[in-house]
Amino acid sequence: MELILATNNKGKVREYKEILEPLGFCVTSQGEAGINIEAEETGKTFSENAYIKAKAIYDIKKTYVLADDSGLVVDALDGRPGVYSARYAEPGKRCDKILSELEGVSFEKRTARFLCSICLIKPNGDVLSVEGRCEGRIGYDKKGENGFGYDPIFLFGDKTLAEMTDDEKNSVSHRGNAVKALIAALKDKGEE
Ligand code: IMP
Repeated sequence: MELILATNNKGKVREYKEILEPLGFCVTSQGEAGINIEAEETGKTFSENAYIKAKAIYDIKKTYVLADDSGLVVDALDGRPGVYSARYAEPGKRCDKILSELEGVSFEKRTARFLCSICLIKPNGDVLSVEGRCEGRIGYDKKGENGFGYDPIFLFGDKTLAEMTDDEKNSVSHRGNAVKALIAALKDKGEE
C-alpha cells in the first residue's frame, strides 16, 4: 500500500520508513510526492493537529495519507511544551530552555512523556486515529548524538533517547508505540 507522509521533518521520515517499510508499506514523504504545503497547526490537541496535517495533503491527493503530531509533556511545567513543542524556542535552544526551566527541580519531579498521535486517512476518506506514549524523565544535561528534538534530555531508564540506536528508540518510543497501535487497528479491520 502506497502511503504519503504529511511531513518534511527528516527525523520523522527516516523513523517512519524504518518502521513501516519492513511491514510492506511503500512510504513517500510529501516532498518526494511533490507536495509543498505546511498546514497551520491550530488544534488544541495532538490528535486534532495530526488530522489537520493529514487532511491538507488528502485534499490534494486522495491516496493513503499519514500524519502525526507529537511533542513533549513535562509535568513540572504544567504540561509544557505540549502542542507547542516545535515552536517552544528557536531551533537548537529548545532543550536548553527546558533544562533551565527545571533548574532546582528534583529527579522525582522531573517526570515527562512524549506523546504521538497518528492520523491515517484512506483513499475513501475514512479516518483512523491512534496514540502512543513514552514515559521518562528530563535529565540534567544533554547527552547523546542520535535522534532529534528533545531526545538528548529525555531519559528512558538510564539512557537518553539520543544515546539509543534507531532500533532501540523505535522499540520504546511514542512514535513506535503509536505505529504498533495503528497496525493493530488496521489488522482489526483486515487491511494489513
Ligand atoms: P510535530 O509533531 O511535527 O508538530 O513536532 C513536534 C515537536 O516535538 C518536534 O519538533 C520535536 O521538537 C518534538 N518531538 C517530537 N517527537 C520527538 C522525538 O521522537 N524526539 C525528540 N523530540 C520530538
